[in-house]
Amino acid sequence: MPQPPVFDVLGVGFGPSNLALAIAVTEHNAAARPEDVVTAHFLERQPRFGWHRGMLLDDATMQVSFLKDLVTLRNPSSSFSFLNYLHGQGRLVDFINHKNLFPLRVEFHEYFEWAAEKVDDLVSYDHDVVAVRPVTEDGAVTHFDVSSRTSGGEVEVRRARNLVLATGLRASLPEGVVQSDRVWHNRDFLHRIESLEDPKRLVVVGAGQSGAEVTAYLHERFRGAEVCAVFARYGYSPADDSSFANRIFDPAAVDDFYAAPEQVKRRLMDYHSNTNYAVVDNDLIAELYRRVYREKVAGAQRLRLLNLSCVVELAETADAVRVTVESLSTGARTVLDADAIVYATGYREADPTGLLGELAGRCLRDEQDRLRVGRDYRLVTEDRLLGGIYLQGGTEHTHGISSSLLSNTSVRVGEILRSVLDRREPPPVPVQPAYAISAYRLG
Ligand code: FDA
Repeated sequence: MPQPPVFDVLGVGFGPSNLALAIAVTEHNAAARPEDVVTAHFLERQPRFGWHRGMLLDDATMQVSFLKDLVTLRNPSSSFSFLNYLHGQGRLVDFINHKNLFPLRVEFHEYFEWAAEKVDDLVSYDHDVVAVRPVTEDGAVTHFDVSSRTSGGEVEVRRARNLVLATGLRASLPEGVVQSDRVWHNRDFLHRIESLEDPKRLVVVGAGQSGAEVTAYLHERFRGAEVCAVFARYGYSPADDSSFANRIFDPAAVDDFYAAPEQVKRRLMDYHSNTNYAVVDNDLIAELYRRVYREKVAGAQRLRLLNLSCVVELAETADAVRVTVESLSTGARTVLDADAIVYATGYREADPTGLLGELAGRCLRDEQDRLRVGRDYRLVTEDRLLGGIYLQGGTEHTHGISSSLLSNTSVRVGEILRSVLDRREPPPVPVQPAYAISAYRLG
């Protein structure tokens, strides 16, 4: 049987987190002695690079400074920076004149695509990772065999010393809600709205950034439709992006959070959750209020906010979805027949051990049954598990609020790469590039 090639690093998922890692590896290798070269490959289930494509709304902006791009905080002189991308597009001076730290989301997506293209040789798209199996030597797990499946059903296996799992968040729906032609999560928003023909009423659930964005977008795009925003809060709450609060996303905050006792960790999350969770940019809140007020003056309310309310029943008919909304204050019910309902009800961390099969049982957990994770983002495992399993995302309980965000990505990948290098012994024989991207095909 032919043996699969062995990589130093195999990344599962190729969103911004592992893209940033691919860049860090590329920059490291460009300056490294042959014996220090790190061989890496990344597997992504999407057919091409894509970052939340369903929410690339025309005028949505980033919630993070462009200086927190894929590289700058780790390597300010990197050629993979957002500024270098802008320069290449001939927009640098226009961007400067704009005097804005927060690029359009579509523009940042183009930046990601541009960067992904530059490290294309390190990625296999259309590869859904379906299993990870341990490879043992003298009773110790030294490597991992990673199986991925293409959309054509072909299975490939790659072997690695270290895994970096960066599979992102999962869309979250309230219990009992099932997606259908008329019931959506906002993750798929732009793909779904193409099916709407002259809608008369649309319902949006949720008062976070996505809920507010979707509400504003539907109201603007479908001028003949009533848009009903349903949420439990009294009103949209602003995101705290003030300078001192923003420090919670600093690289140093990861050290502080990691070292803090559990009770202090919880307190930090409570104090600062309004920097990220269930909050909306101030400008968007002002814009929505302006629209509601304008319609009030005109005497024709097309944008309706059903606050202090929740959806208690959904029933689909052939041509509508009947949404029953209940007031949390009085219990009064309002029935809305709508063309579609969009749940902007957030995302949750996925349990990365789902992919790990029998290895999952060898990962140590804390007293609350959460994965134990080292400061270097490596899962704490049984001693006999020598290969490293690193997480990008899914570490909010250990590393704090920036874990699933872009803020600290460039620094985090530098720390992961450093850890991989520090643990490397003896130095492996360098793998030729042509060999490095080949795989062991099973069928
Ligand atoms: P991400 O989810 O981006 O990528 C994971 C990748 O793994 C996906 O491409 C997926 O297909 C792939 N994958 C999953 N399972 C796989 C498998 N088994 N095999 C192969 N591939 C697999 N944060 C921020 O800091 N500033 C911001 O402005 C925003 N804006 C924003 C807008 C919207 C609409 C959302 C939903 C989220 C944000 N975020 C954000 C937060 C967001 O989590 C963050 O921007 C990144 O997406 C995190 O990057 P990752 O690469 O970790 O996950």
